Amino acid sequence: MNSKGQYGDYQNEIYFDGLSGVLPTMPMTFPELEARAQAALPPSVLSYVAGGAGDESTQRANVSAFERYGLVPRMMVGATQRDLGVDLFGLKLPSPLFMAPVGVIGLCAQDGHGDLATARAAARSGVPMVASTLTVDPMEEVAAEFGDTPGFFQLYTPTDRALAESLVHRAEAAGFKGIVVTLDTWLTGWRPRDLATSNFPQLRGHALANYTSDPVFRARLAKAPEDDLQAAVVEWIRIFGNPLTWDDLAWLRSITELPIILKGICHPEDVHRAKDGGADAVYCSNHGGRQANGGLAAIDLLPDVVAAADGLPVLFDSGIRTGADVVKALALGATAVGVGRPYAYGLAIGGVDGIVHVLRSLLAEADLIMAVDGYPTPADLRAQGAIRRR
Ligand SMILES: Cc1cc2nc3c(=O)[nH]c(=O)nc-3n(C[C@H](O)[C@H](O)[C@H](O)COP(=O)(O)O)c2cc1C
Repeated sequence: MNSKGQYGDYQNEIYFDGLSGVLPTMPMTFPELEARAQAALPPSVLSYVAGGAGDESTQRANVSAFERYGLVPRMMVGATQRDLGVDLFGLKLPSPLFMAPVGVIGLCAQDGHGDLATARAAARSGVPMVASTLTVDPMEEVAAEFGDTPGFFQLYTPTDRALAESLVHRAEAAGFKGIVVTLDTWLTGWRPRDLATSNFPQLRGHALANYTSDPVFRARLAKAPEDDLQAAVVEWIRIFGNPLTWDDLAWLRSITELPIILKGICHPEDVHRAKDGGADAVYCSNHGGRQANGGLAAIDLLPDVVAAADGLPVLFDSGIRTGADVVKALALGATAVGVGRPYAYGLAIGGVDGIVHVLRSLLAEADLIMAVDGYPTPADLRAQGAIRRR
């Protein structure tokens, strides 16, 4: 991928291949990607990835709400060179895209090592991975695959503070560049698809490598997890979810010098509290509608979050399916934009190549829209008047 931002060149590769009779094997639209992944994934993994909370109306709204926003084209800008790069905590990223944390992404790969595949896709594409606490392979092994692309660690804060500190310090030592603290998942939302099949992967011992490899967690167990996985799972249930309050932010701030990004922030007052407590960024997301149904589409909440952030970086995810969605989120003020389910589906159907294809397609479409519509940089997109509500 070209670091100068000409991501749109991906289409030339595809068209030129066609001249010698080579047609793409990967899907070019999200519905086809989803359909192919449905066929590729085991039913239990598919249900966990595709499903959401309640009747999934928030999950659907996350996607459909993007249709209500539209870019206003500007002409004679001569946007022959686009620069999609963004600056995040002093890191110069070649594009605003990142891979949102997806626990059990490990299970989406045909070989069961999807965290490593995702890290390799990050290395190849320059698109950072936010590695979940819930991985099949330990964070150190995931980080070792990042190449030159920075990575971030997402923390599900356990109730045992010593364990939380151990996870964060391991992330620091492994070279992660920031800690994403997810606030909306100290318990699991009501998920009918998974309930119908009594399906919760972690309870079957999946994706717990960061715990079972952790000295603090291991010290809590009577027997090593290799000898008694069931007891380790029971202990994991006991310590997994910490219902944090704003008073805990000072402690989180004190345990690391890495940037802290608070995930799940959707209300302007929470943005102010995050800022006051020393967070380095807020991350506007409703967890893809997986946690609480009945909520508004995340993209509709973004403008107020951006206004309250007043210059603090704002990461965004929930509902990104196309390059047009990426562009709209930037125009509404996101500093960086997270892709979730689409890269899980790319992994399911094509491994590392599948993820890279999904990321390159999103970036190519975003880049070409910026070219056609005359907004050569994310800053131009953020300029007033770039986007209107239909
Ligand atoms: C299968 C699955 C697992 C997820 N696991 C995590 C996780 O471990 N930590 C986290 O902060 N968010 C997790 N998320 C939420 C994503 O980070 C992101 O907010 C969501 O996927 C965005 O919605 P979208 O994929 O529909 O665009 C998960 C999402 C999915 C689909």
